[in-house]
Amino acid sequence: MTQINYIKELVKYGLENDQEKFKSALNELIEYAKQTKKTNYALQLQSILKDAIRNEQNRGPKLVGSPSYFTRIEDRELNELILEKITSEYKFKNLIAGKDVLEQLEYFIKEHKSKDMLNNLRLSVSNKILFYGPSGCGKTLASYVLAGELEKMMYVINLGAIVSSKLGETSKNLAKVFRQATVEDSIIFIDEFDSLGKIRDYDQDHGEMKRIVNTILQLFDYLHQNSIIIAATNQIEMIDNALLRRFDLKIKLDLPNQKQIKELISLILMNGQFTFDRKNVLSTILKEAKGLSYYSIQKSLIGAIKRSIFDTNNNENNSIIIKTSIWKELLKLEREQIKLS
Ligand SMILES: Nc1ncnc2c1ncn2[C@@H]1O[C@H](COP(=O)(O)OP(=O)(O)OP(=O)(O)O)[C@@H](O)[C@H]1O
Ligand SMILES: [Mg+2]
Repeated sequence: MTQINYIKELVKYGLENDQEKFKSALNELIEYAKQTKKTNYALQLQSILKDAIRNEQNRGPKLVGSPSYFTRIEDRELNELILEKITSEYKFKNLIAGKDVLEQLEYFIKEHKSKDMLNNLRLSVSNKILFYGPSGCGKTLASYVLAGELEKMMYVINLGAIVSSKLGETSKNLAKVFRQATVEDSIIFIDEFDSLGKIRDYDQDHGEMKRIVNTILQLFDYLHQNSIIIAATNQIEMIDNALLRRFDLKIKLDLPNQKQIKELISLILMNGQFTFDRKNVLSTILKEAKGLSYYSIQKSLIGAIKRSIFDTNNNENNSIIIKTSIWKELLKLEREQIKLS
């Protein structure tokens, strides 16, 4: 159907006073406008329609348990924005990082635990953190650790998901999530923060992109002292300077060095059921493990443990012996896969 046909339908149902058919035709026109990339036009129509429905609902009693079609749409958009609402059991012991990183995080926790005292002294509390660095080095994990240590709930927002789909409602929905998180004293975790920079590359509405960046700047600037925002990116260079400046802490979570690889092995083998087939494991695997992320190293070690278990001779003394050569092979595979990606 063309736009003219939609408008003809609208006029017909409007004059016939058929509200249901009118709304449904309008909804079709909105979809059509979105498909034909007339984003602003679609947004304006959508907001007119929603306002009308809201006014209608406010006039009569609310129908509990049977939300109208349009309020369902609104909720769905919010749900797309929030990937999860989580609580976390992670603590500092789960995170391996350099001394300086751990120290910054520990001070951050201390500040929040003593925020009343600091506020009384008119000292502001840091509440905006950006984690950056290569994939699989603990950005998400560190956010979970902060939530776990502070015993706060966390809204996980994936900007990547929003930016590639419904740009239109994003500003409004972000404001909504921020409001909700403040009321509930939760942390807001914005993953793939670099997507904001990427919007420029998409065939999208530039005005809308600017609006989202401005919304975020405003939300950051007026953030309540008790609220916490954590953002994560593995492409810090994509992020606008105005946005970068807003963060109190910018913490790099980097690839593990030799000492950290050793700590990771101990963490994975913590329960003591596994031993290696040789003493100096590190010197054997280091060449292959160098330059790989915590995640890749962990994944290949767990793979090696499982393969070693399947080896039938491997159940003496209730202890499983990990074959270092298998691990080395899996590390090599991991490196090759990374090169391909
Ligand atoms: N610093 C670390 N200390 C201990 N374990 C880690 C660390 N970094 C990563 N891991 C392990 O790897 C998994 C994946 O890491 P995480 O999801 O935090 O990476 P990320 O930096 O957020 O990566 P991405 O950029 O791909 O989102 C973690 O759940 C954990 O098991
Ligand atoms: Mg992550």
